[in-house]
Amino acid sequence: MIMAVASLGCMNREIMRSSGTQTNTNEEVPVLTETTGAPYLATHQSIVDEMLAVANVTGDDILYDLGSGDGRIPITAAMRFGTKGVGIDIDPVLVRMANKNAIDQKVEDKVKFVEADIFKYDFSDATVVMLYLSPKLNVQLKPQLMKLKSGTRIVSHNHDMGDWKPEVKKRVTTPAGIEHTVYLWRIP
Ligand SMILES: C[S@@+](CC[C@H](N)C(=O)[O-])C[C@H]1O[C@@H](n2cnc3c(N)ncnc32)[C@H](O)[C@@H]1O
Repeated sequence: MIMAVASLGCMNREIMRSSGTQTNTNEEVPVLTETTGAPYLATHQSIVDEMLAVANVTGDDILYDLGSGDGRIPITAAMRFGTKGVGIDIDPVLVRMANKNAIDQKVEDKVKFVEADIFKYDFSDATVVMLYLSPKLNVQLKPQLMKLKSGTRIVSHNHDMGDWKPEVKKRVTTPAGIEHTVYLWRIP
């Protein structure tokens, strides 16, 4: 697993170099120019692990990552639990990167990455939704999230959902000592 994570990180930087986007080896810092309301920031693998644990993700879930970046959340879930996943991102470079990462990790039969706007995409078959966006985009997503099946778990890295009271709010510290927050809500 450590090998897989390292290889995702390397590929991330290589593709960014070749596509001319700004690079930064520190994963806590934005690496792409903000054009969408949520710049590209990779969730540290230790936080990915915590997001999957908080949602109790299994092989029976259908997991969506809304704003999927290099695909690490659905790819990790597929590798670890056999979870089917869909990642949606508005940035075509990131979507290509994520699909290539899925092939490299041999989970392309479980996950797919689609270039689309999350506000125009039908993710109504989700049983788990992962978010690492912004406070504003989280709140704007509420009408779509409220239409999901009862029991669907919503997990957000760092950003809350305005007035929605989380079932879980957990502080997690990365190996570099940076504190993050993982939230869980369940659609009633
Ligand atoms: C902070 S990154 C999170 C990446 C990944 N989920 C992770 O945790 O490593 C947010 C991502 O959301 C994407 N994004 C922002 N607005 C979007 C929109 N309206 N539709 C689709 N993707 C969007 C950005 O391109 C970026 O890759």
